[in-house]
Amino acid sequence: MALVGCGSALPAARVSNTDLSQRVDTSDDWIRSRTGIAARRVASAAEPLTLLASQAAEAALAHAGWEAADLDLILLATSSPDDLFGTAPRIQAAIGASGAVAFDLTAACSGFLFALITAGQYIASGAVRRALVIGADQLSRWVDWDDRRTCVLFGDGAAAVAVEAAAPGTTDLLGFRMRSDGSRNACLTLAQTTETEPLLGDLEAQKGGFAPIQMNGQEVYKFAVREVPQILAELLEHTGTDPGALDWLLLHQANQRILDAVAERFSMPGERVLSNLAHYGNTSAATIPLMLDEAVKDGRVQPGHLLASSGFGAGLSWGAALLRWSGPQG
Ligand code: COA
Repeated sequence: MALVGCGSALPAARVSNTDLSQRVDTSDDWIRSRTGIAARRVASAAEPLTLLASQAAEAALAHAGWEAADLDLILLATSSPDDLFGTAPRIQAAIGASGAVAFDLTAACSGFLFALITAGQYIASGAVRRALVIGADQLSRWVDWDDRRTCVLFGDGAAAVAVEAAAPGTTDLLGFRMRSDGSRNACLTLAQTTETEPLLGDLEAQKGGFAPIQMNGQEVYKFAVREVPQILAELLEHTGTDPGALDWLLLHQANQRILDAVAERFSMPGERVLSNLAHYGNTSAATIPLMLDEAVKDGRVQPGHLLASSGFGAGLSWGAALLRWSGPQG
């Protein structure tokens, strides 16, 4: 599999920490010092996930120099779909990729990495030649805006990566690891509510609906600083890669302190750890492709660069992949 293009799209409205402090009892200083976040984007009703994800998809197609008709597969990683039956087909229609099969994949903040690895398997098997892997979330729909422990962390965004079959014997997915631990699911949930309605006699039918995000911040923090270095170390060992050979650490953007802790474990200097948390907060499945798109377009990530990536979050789920960027410069 070769990584050959990327693109992203963000909602227009920017909400700063100071703006948020008008809604909940918090401060710019508290949020910045604990998380590194200064602002986030929040989608309006006129910016549904389908729209942002389609804009990101079109930008990635243009960057790769492809037509929508070239696509065989569209994989949408999201936990906040416009339609629980699947949002990827709406994107397929919006961009005119009539020949592509399109479906959603849910693994919260690990979603993009899991989807990229999944697309890599379809390509490796020969079933698919060209695919778009999209990470898009609008967790602003699902946070409790009166809960200062969670609402300050999340933001909305969408980004996509174009991948295709590589020359025989080569790949930009040089290795990967994926893990889940459902026994710790309660640490971070966006769960179905238990409201029911009488149906027939004693039979109660459950009503659809989800409760806002519930999170044990300290447990999630401990999980991340323990498991992410561990799985990255396994990945580097498995692929025989010296950390000094990495050009970039491309981690899920959840908290600057988590990025710093992982970087320290691998003695990576701060300037090689990609971070845009300050501008966008945690955009869940979108963070990794959003960060990649920014760093490719501003010229930090160059053709041939080696990136160690890790996604982690609800599930609990986590994973790591060693990637090479083969797309155009800038
Ligand atoms: N503004 C001001 N005060 C806040 C606050 C906010 N936004 N959120 C929490 N506080 C308060 C708490 O109420 C608590 O006050 P108390 O001691 O009077 O009860 C105090 O700050 C400390 O809270 P605590 O939860 O111990 O803070 P923390 O240092 O653990 O930082 C997180 C909280 C959420 C920033 C941190 O736990 C974290 O980043 N966890 C990982 C979350 C994450 O990344 N989730 C997504 C993973 S994909």
